[in-house]
Amino acid sequence: MNFNNLIKQANKRVEEFKELQRLGMIIKTGEFIPAGVHYPPITEYPDIEYDKMFEGYTMPDDGLLDVYVHIPFCTKQCIFCHYPSHYNSPDEEKDKYLDALEKEMDIYLRTLGIDKIKLRVALIGGGTPTDLTPKQLERFLKMFTSRCDMSKVRQFNYDLSPSTIIGKEGIERLNLLKEYGVDRLTIGVQTMNEEIMRKMNRSHNKKEALKSINNSLEMGFKTNIEFIYGYPGQTVESWYKELKEIVKINVHEIQFYRLKVDAYGDQQGTIKKYEQLHPDDCPSAEDTIRMKQMVFDYLKEFGYNENLRRVFTKQKSNISLYAFNQCCEQKDQIAFGLTGFSSLRDRFILNTQHFEEYYNRIENGLLPFNRGYIRDSEAQQRWALILPLKNYYVRKKRYKEVTGIDIKDSKLYSIIQLLKEYDLIEENEQNIKLTSKGGFFSDEIVGLFYDTKFITKERNLYNDGPLNPFLLN
Ligand SMILES: C[S@@+](CC[C@H](N)C(=O)[O-])C[C@H]1O[C@@H](n2cnc3c(N)ncnc32)[C@H](O)[C@@H]1O
Ligand code: SF4
Repeated sequence: MNFNNLIKQANKRVEEFKELQRLGMIIKTGEFIPAGVHYPPITEYPDIEYDKMFEGYTMPDDGLLDVYVHIPFCTKQCIFCHYPSHYNSPDEEKDKYLDALEKEMDIYLRTLGIDKIKLRVALIGGGTPTDLTPKQLERFLKMFTSRCDMSKVRQFNYDLSPSTIIGKEGIERLNLLKEYGVDRLTIGVQTMNEEIMRKMNRSHNKKEALKSINNSLEMGFKTNIEFIYGYPGQTVESWYKELKEIVKINVHEIQFYRLKVDAYGDQQGTIKKYEQLHPDDCPSAEDTIRMKQMVFDYLKEFGYNENLRRVFTKQKSNISLYAFNQCCEQKDQIAFGLTGFSSLRDRFILNTQHFEEYYNRIENGLLPFNRGYIRDSEAQQRWALILPLKNYYVRKKRYKEVTGIDIKDSKLYSIIQLLKEYDLIEENEQNIKLTSKGGFFSDEIVGLFYDTKFITKERNLYNDGPLNPFLLN
């Protein structure tokens, strides 16, 4: 599709966007409020009593768990990033962290009363989990896999940055990942525009990013690449140029993130300050909506479809099983490391984001969590609807397993019925899902199912329409 046709299509979405603002569903300023990643939002979790968090918890019937490990080190601090990390740290600091991680895994195993984790899917992320020397990486992989029963593993993912998998050391790291069973890499390319890449303060240039993708593909990893749109300096014209280059890279999966200026978690990245200092450099909400629609229309021509929210693949089977299990199936998962979170049926356990507190807790033989939330029946019903609705679709059978009630008996069902009238949701015997229009505005739609005490923006920022989240709840 040429640029003019893409814009024509995108303008239709902008009209829908404005209409949904009038109806009270989308905030008047149009700013992006990500929703449906966790429920309630992690910023709302209170401090919790240590002994309460595992009280009454029993392992899943099949004994299988998904696992996340967080390695909070990076070469440089990217302007857009809100994740707490340490930059350009000496090797000793990383060794200290790996020591703590090893102890943490052992404390967790004791807490669950098991010798090994029967692993279903693993995701090692950060930070940059490959921002370790090859020797440290090998130590980690050995330590991690020796504490897991790997016989049932379905996917072993690593989220990394390009600069750590190029050159001699990069190839060494890739060989190690392969040797220990990693089969899928997510590489943060972020942009194909060299100037914006520099502005982001990335640790790589475009040539290096492309080289890292090649290395990953050549070594047989399923390869997922990530981009951000709505970034300062981007225009709809420059984004079109980027898209033309992106589709030429033949990978298994492409993810597109709309820029989050306000942090979703507790730490605010420098992008907020940048936006305040350079408002003219930032694309308008309407242009960002256009960029998003351009992704759908342009990628479709090359065989890519959105098979999980914001994830475009040619084949459905290429999606991240970790993300799928977390958001759609809502399987039990445990996490290790700074900021890691465990999601165990009706409860959510969040690790500290402060390095010293992390080390101290583990030194004292305690797990490093300091906040958490045990959902009551109503919160559980919201969680069981919001995550799958946003990311895939709600299977009514699964909803009943997770909540104990039929979705028709939930008080949220009337909102579902209302949204059907606006062509945002559709329902059949088995499933409830967003329409293609609804999928485009998925964050805002699932925001309608939040308890009002968890809506982060003020009431007066929404029009008094029939889809105002404060009036619906
Ligand atoms: C945890 S980050 C880590 C990726 C890896 N360390 C890297 O730099 O390539 C995962 C992805 O989230 C996306 N992301 C991070 N901060 C973002 C923000 N403020 N807005 C939108 N997307 C963001 C980026 O595309 C990034 O690749
Ligand atoms: S985007 Fe990745 S490399 Fe950049 S600061 Fe965040 S975690 Fe580190």
